[in-house]
Amino acid sequence: MRVLVTGGAGYIGSHTCVDLLLAGHEVIVVDSLINSREESIRRIEEITGRKLFFHKVDLLDQEPLEAVFQESRIDAVIHFAGLKAVGESVIMPLQYYKNNIIGSLVLFEVMMHHGVRNLVFSSSATVYGDPASLPITEDFPLQASNPYGWGKVMLEQILRDLCQADPEMNIALLRYFNPVGAHPSGRIGEDPKGIPNNLVPYIAQVAVGKLSELQVFGNDYPTPDGTGVRDYIHVMDLASGHMKALEKLDTNPGLVTYNLGTGKGCSVLEMVNAFAEAAEKKIPYRIVARRPGDIASCYADASKAEKELSWRATRDIHAMCEDTWRWQSMNPNGYEE
Ligand code: NAD
Ligand code: UD1
Repeated sequence: MRVLVTGGAGYIGSHTCVDLLLAGHEVIVVDSLINSREESIRRIEEITGRKLFFHKVDLLDQEPLEAVFQESRIDAVIHFAGLKAVGESVIMPLQYYKNNIIGSLVLFEVMMHHGVRNLVFSSSATVYGDPASLPITEDFPLQASNPYGWGKVMLEQILRDLCQADPEMNIALLRYFNPVGAHPSGRIGEDPKGIPNNLVPYIAQVAVGKLSELQVFGNDYPTPDGTGVRDYIHVMDLASGHMKALEKLDTNPGLVTYNLGTGKGCSVLEMVNAFAEAAEKKIPYRIVARRPGDIASCYADASKAEKELSWRATRDIHAMCEDTWRWQSMNPNGYEE
């Protein structure tokens, strides 16, 4: 299959490209590099021993995007491209809506022009807001509390409407829980710009000595140890979820929605301990106030993906920490020279 991957130079996209190439697919990446580096493309090729076709194109620029579709007959699109920092989206809502919503609309329109009707879309557990109960199933009500989250809710709705209007469209909405980890080679991984907002990249930078201590945001949540609970999922498990979703689209299912998580909750302190074990280092931390907007617990019911895609996450938090640590210790400055 010839697969166009938007945002393929980024964290989840690069890992998915590895799986796609190893499965024999032809891969075309479109990425503006606004939050990534071309070095990741080189490393995907190094890991797989295969060539992929890279175009530095912003989805907001319709003409060069049309040219990419014109050049090769694309069978399916996996759409990762988007800005993803929640806090930043609150400060610059227009930039987020423009990049994520308009960029996606341009992509969908170009797909329509070229008769490309199979799409996998990166959604997020953020569309569940603060869930009324746990675990979260796909039929829970959708809500959001920031422009990033609203963008995901809106794009899901746009795609539902698109499927409704065109019965030949096949779309998989994949709602990721908390992606962590890296490729086991240690050659590609998450490379956040500046100080990380998310837990695991932060811990990794404490372990490698770039940051002095972790701030644990609250230990008074109604959870077993008082710290926040999340469903961390290894990025390689996520990548294989995309492969299964592509296969599913070939059966003409229309619009399908899946949670991609492990179904298991893990607390901040459990993650700190698992990382300390993997890195064989103490992770200094200090309990501070809760982070505004954070919820106590969030984890998936991932049984629908297991039943309908024959997909299940197989890597535990030890593998997540070991692989993150290999990437972080081999590349203390990420992809930067
Ligand atoms: P990332 O920032 O590493 O990758 C996104 C890529 O998209 C980057 O390479 C960036 O340069 C590119 N991009 C952004 N805007 C673009 C545009 N207008 N045109 C072309 N390229 C553009 O992020 P990621 O963690 O790999 O996330 C991938 C997708 O998954 C995003 O849509 C994100 O919202 C979603 N998601 C991520 C998480 C997470 O925690 N990482 C969780 C749930 C959902
Ligand atoms: C983030 C996103 C959310 C997205 C989700 C999955 C933010 C604010 N929210 O939330 O929109 O859907 O990832 O990708 O970015 N923690 C600390 N110290 C830190 C960092 C985090 O204690 O320095 C705690 C948090 O309070 C939370 C847990 O660690 O309990 C995980 O935090 P994080 O990695 O930011 O993920 P989410 O809170 O799920």
